[in-house]
Amino acid sequence: MNAPSPPSTITGDTPARPLKRLFIRTWGCQMNVYDSARMADVLAPLGYAPAEAPEDADMVVLNTCHIREKASEKLFSELGRLRVLKQAKEQGGDRMILAVAGCVAQAEGAEITARAPYVDLVLGPQTYHRLPEMVARATRAAGAVIETDFPAEEKFDFLPDSTTPQGVTAFLTIQEGCDKFCSFCVVPYTRGSEYSRSAATVIAEARRLAAQGSREIALLGQNVNAWHGEGLDGKTWNLARLLRELADIEGVARLRYTTSHPRDMDDELIAAHGDIPALMPFLHLPVQSGSDRILQAMNRGHKADDYRRIAEKLRAARPDIALSSDFIAGHPGENEADHQATMALIRDVGFALAYSFKYSSRPGTPAAGATMQVPEAEKDRRLQEIQALLREQQDGFNRSCVGRRCDVLVTGPGRHPGQLAGRSPWLQPVHFVGAGQQPGDVIAVDVAAALPNSLAVHPLERPAGNGPPETSPQPPCQEKAAA
Ligand code: SAH
Ligand code: SF4
Ligand code: F3S
Repeated sequence: MNAPSPPSTITGDTPARPLKRLFIRTWGCQMNVYDSARMADVLAPLGYAPAEAPEDADMVVLNTCHIREKASEKLFSELGRLRVLKQAKEQGGDRMILAVAGCVAQAEGAEITARAPYVDLVLGPQTYHRLPEMVARATRAAGAVIETDFPAEEKFDFLPDSTTPQGVTAFLTIQEGCDKFCSFCVVPYTRGSEYSRSAATVIAEARRLAAQGSREIALLGQNVNAWHGEGLDGKTWNLARLLRELADIEGVARLRYTTSHPRDMDDELIAAHGDIPALMPFLHLPVQSGSDRILQAMNRGHKADDYRRIAEKLRAARPDIALSSDFIAGHPGENEADHQATMALIRDVGFALAYSFKYSSRPGTPAAGATMQVPEAEKDRRLQEIQALLREQQDGFNRSCVGRRCDVLVTGPGRHPGQLAGRSPWLQPVHFVGAGQQPGDVIAVDVAAALPNSLAVHPLERPAGNGPPETSPQPPCQEKAAA
């Protein structure tokens, strides 16, 4: 956490209380990033303010991810380092509370304290609202406090309103958990079953974020496009309906949502991409494989051509939309023909950005026990081929932006003096020499050059006031990346 050092006591209407310092280390997905911010919110009334480093902290939370292997090893080596700090504090007469949160905590529970008995708290992602009580229990008693049940009450109903401004771009979790049980994935076991927050609570949180200065809101969920929450009219709304409502909030210039599943990409949501200007023309839509046989083994519930059709429909609704995806190389049973089918799908669809992983066997998932595991060297080769093609497409997409005009959301200072940084509609990092622009401004630019991981741009003259993003005179980028 990089917040500037606060004063040593909290003052104001409430009586001053000694300030304690909190350090949170976060691994994993954006939902873990959001959760870490909410844990900080829950602990703030107890007097915990951000610490710069674990060395300065009275409480350290490790918010963990279990999605691929080596998660526990990473956790235990970090815990080993923290144990030394904790002991040093204790020798000085102070206390450090050490907490393990997130998906490894949920999956491994008491095994963590068996291996690392100096850990005070182990808590799963659904129990963060109980943190103050757990901290109190850990402070009073010796021995670890472990909370990895899926509580009957919903944590969102008990978490306080977020108080810490997130900045120009903000995350907002609207949906949690997953009922899809893909063969390879731990998420249904670590995050529990699907839950959608109500439209009223989401809208209230989005309004607060906008009032705190956020201009771009990314809605989060493990299956965000499966969101179906109670609407303002008491009826069940879908994500398209929610997006329309959020787009009307004053100050919200940009909306995104992640991560989506192809099965839940319905026509109404696709149409929303065509008629909600604030909805950015970029969609992360993981497909995992281009082989129908493997998609079936993965329990994904759709075929490769269904994905191709969704991509076509999205491009028909919003010609400048760029797609991103996730791929797994070497799922059990995958043969060379399956791998080539994945390569063909990548060529057919064209991706602006993508993440690809070697299949990693996760304990307790159906694929872990499957016969026909793919040899490591073969997984490596397939992954390299996938990544080379995806890199080529990403570079092609970035090059296709040069000479185009688009809007940029200014997010903060750039790396060099006088520079500002921002994001294009397609999430590319952008930098330029500033001339009075402020973080939060949406400015029109010409794209001058595509660098390996960012775009260099020139801002255009634009009337003061920064209204909603202007429509570019021409479609800003190619609708499909060059293969
Ligand atoms: N809910 C999202 C994915 C969440 S996990 C979806 O349905 O697509 C993020 C990504 O991690 C997945 O898309 C997948 O590509 C990868 N992943 C998950 N489990 C994995 C495993 N066991 N091995 C390798 N990659 C995995
Ligand atoms: Fe995991 Fe599949 Fe659920 Fe995504 S949809 S979180 S990959 S089980
Ligand atoms: Fe990791 Fe849990 Fe997110 S396993 S990817 S932190 S949902």
